[in-house]
Amino acid sequence: MKSVNSRLSAGKLRISMTLGVAMAATVLFFGASAMADEGVEAAGKNRYMDYCASCHGVDAKGAGPFAVMLTKKPSDLTLLSKNNGGTFPYDHVFEAIDGRDMIGGAHGSKDMPIWGGEWKDSGLASETALRGRILEMLIYLKSIQQ
Ligand code: HEC
Repeated sequence: MKSVNSRLSAGKLRISMTLGVAMAATVLFFGASAMADEGVEAAGKNRYMDYCASCHGVDAKGAGPFAVMLTKKPSDLTLLSKNNGGTFPYDHVFEAIDGRDMIGGAHGSKDMPIWGGEWKDSGLASETALRGRILEMLIYLKSIQQ
């Protein structure tokens, strides 16, 4: 009997160890992905400050130093979700930033640079890297919605 008991408790121990490891892995996994998100968001923020704040403003509300020179007022980028019924409009924002689909299109604008073209044609980014840049920007912009 004793051997059965000890085998049973050894089994329990193994199960709780497995659970412990699984839980630790879960914590690590979610911790790491939260950290990855923060990294992406920070990269998007840096790039936002470099490329977008001049028109849209450091606070993204549309009043950067260049805004006065434009015929169209740069959009308030903290209201993208609010203006879309509370959901962040990923596709719309992606296309607005990329801009290449909008040439001559109904909502195209000469005031907003066509970043897809700028970054790619200048050799700054491949098509894949370019999409990564835009995604970083989306994650940052989503984080500053009101
Ligand atoms: C030279 C000035 C300028 C710069 C730099 C600029 N934008 Fe814009 N942006 C505008 C203007 C003006 C508009 C609004 C007019 C339009 O295009 O409809 C706009 C519109 C937008 C929109 C559409 C918003 C909506 O409500 O539909 C997004 C998204 C956007 N900009 C993101 C960015 C991002 C991200 C960057 C940096 C990579 C950037 N902009 C850099 C001038 C600028």
